[in-house]
Amino acid sequence: MSEAGAQAAPDRIMHVSDVHFGVENPAAMDAFAASVEELQPDAVICTGDITQRAFHGQWDAARKWFAAFDAPVMVMPGNHDMPYGNLLERFRDPYKRFGSLEDAVGREISLRHAVIVPLDTNVTAQWRWPWSDGVIKQRKLDATLERLGELADDPRMKIVACHHPLLPATDDRKNPTIRGDMAFAALARAGANAVMSGHVHVPFDLTRSREGHAMRMIGAGTLSRRLRGAEPSWNLVTITPDRIAVEPQYPLEQMTELETTR
Ligand SMILES: [Fe+2]
Ligand SMILES: [Fe+2]
Repeated sequence: MSEAGAQAAPDRIMHVSDVHFGVENPAAMDAFAASVEELQPDAVICTGDITQRAFHGQWDAARKWFAAFDAPVMVMPGNHDMPYGNLLERFRDPYKRFGSLEDAVGREISLRHAVIVPLDTNVTAQWRWPWSDGVIKQRKLDATLERLGELADDPRMKIVACHHPLLPATDDRKNPTIRGDMAFAALARAGANAVMSGHVHVPFDLTRSREGHAMRMIGAGTLSRRLRGAEPSWNLVTITPDRIAVEPQYPLEQMTELETTR
């Protein structure tokens, strides 16, 4: 492809989330890996809950799965990715068990038409139980806002990646993410076009607004057996200079279609 052609080609991101090694769906995981090989995406982004319990064996399996992808990988930690049984480790070095995957944690992804900037919404402890829901820490939000500020004159799309959705599914519900409303407004004000997340195990693609600022919310489902109303899925995100298109992919349904058309 010529240089001009490469510039014009859309970016393709495979957005996956909540793979939950330990309770993963092997058929869905294999189908996803086959799609990475077939589609050769510009990036694979996993928005957290990589393991079920952050056990060493689960991390070993996760590292092996991601290492097979011939694409830049960015992972964001989820609430299931910090050890619960070893509190000393949880507080001192919560992401130690990522091992070689630690390099991909919060790694910014720079593409032709988009920049993906991380925001960590996990906390090692909080004043409520369970510790699974998100909390926006000012220090972490400031780092993301600072990066968006640096990118203010960059014409590319700015997408923030985190684990917990910043807003509830509908505005009449209580927001489980503490300070999520404030973070949503601040990110939108700073020029973010979209925020991609996981955690709820159901895909969604919505435009929401807070304090007069609108932003897209893109959620990926799960490739695990922890289903909450939707079959295993991942999102194909295609980005051109003026559009972000999101297409949920259901690998098990696609396999069934293939089998029945044979
Ligand atoms: Fe999850
Ligand atoms: Fe989660």
